[in-house]
Amino acid sequence: MTKIENDRYLRALLRQPVDRTPVWLMRQAGRYLPEYRQLRAEAGDFMTLCQTPELACEVTLQPLRRFDLDAAILFSDILTIPDAMGLGLSFGAGEGPRFAKTIQHQRDVDALPLPDPEGELRYVMDAVRTIKKALAQRVPLIGFSGSPWTLATYMVEGGSSKQFSRIKQMMYREPALLHGLLDKLATSVTQYLNGQIAAGADAVMIFDTWGGVLSHQDYQDFSLQYMTRIIQGIHRQYEGRVIPVTLFTKGGGQWLEAIAASGCDAVGLDWTTDIAVARQRVGDKVALQGNMDPAVLQGDDALVTAKVQQILQQYGHGSGHVFNLGHGITPDIEPARVKTFVDAVHHFSAAYHQA
Ligand code: CP3
Repeated sequence: MTKIENDRYLRALLRQPVDRTPVWLMRQAGRYLPEYRQLRAEAGDFMTLCQTPELACEVTLQPLRRFDLDAAILFSDILTIPDAMGLGLSFGAGEGPRFAKTIQHQRDVDALPLPDPEGELRYVMDAVRTIKKALAQRVPLIGFSGSPWTLATYMVEGGSSKQFSRIKQMMYREPALLHGLLDKLATSVTQYLNGQIAAGADAVMIFDTWGGVLSHQDYQDFSLQYMTRIIQGIHRQYEGRVIPVTLFTKGGGQWLEAIAASGCDAVGLDWTTDIAVARQRVGDKVALQGNMDPAVLQGDDALVTAKVQQILQQYGHGSGHVFNLGHGITPDIEPARVKTFVDAVHHFSAAYHQA
């Protein structure tokens, strides 16, 4: 395979020298873009976009046409795995995800199949192959999955949650049941990510959106342990390509050393952590991704530019930083602010990468 033209993102993850700090945005394809809203309306719903490789490809490329982004991310969702396990995923209008079936008993866990990446989840692998072809090696493609803990919250609660009372009840009353579910999910996520790597993903990211609701010890036992196992099972070298892994636990700032010891190449930071302190804490063990508050994009161009400069200065000189938001961009953001953000990262980061 030919080399990727703009490989800043991959180089920064591996802490190799770069000319500019690479930048991409969590949820860079989505409802803040009018062209996304139009295509989604034509397709009928979100899952149709995910399940039709040509549409998933088109949506993936939309933000890259507008902005000078250093990576593309597969357009899909973390809930494809529980859906493929037979839980019946739907998205009600403006409601968030819902599952027709939930996991409550040992028999529910026992009955869960391990989805075949090239079977029930073939539409995701086909999307990866279609996007890879369309990208023509201009920028890398990021594959992704949810963490076992984060997927389990949706499977046990039946949708989004604020209190996480059902899954916490399971954790404290029937820990062996929950460990059985997490164990199965870890196996499935490993197979799924390896499928995406074989289909052409250049890097992978694990989203642990809800790890931060756990206590210190429970985070290690119910989330990090399973992500560590996934990292050990992923193809880190595939057909001559090195595949970097990024682990993002929202609210995980107090566990940086433990996360960095998982074997990942990069740790994603939300906006509550000082990236200068984070860099001191992880040393040269891992790269860092983040971490501007997505709400900064509500401000004007001058504010966005100032906040970008501040984070670049906090990280300081040298490679190992992938600029991003601390969580996904929200649907109410003006695309013009995103252009300001991306261009500011490239413009002001040059000074931090001189030999
Ligand atoms: O980043 C990208 O551009 C790639 C696409 C992507 C989506 N979901 C598309 C999506 C990625 C990486 C995800 C991951 C995801 N999905 C996470 C982890 C990251 C995070 O945000 O914390 C989680 C928790 C989910 C589950 C999920 N999917 C929820 C809770 C919702 C509803 C909330 C919402 O934002 O509407 C979704 C739907 C979803 N996934 C949308 C998109 C673009 C919105 C669907 C639409 O209405 O068009």
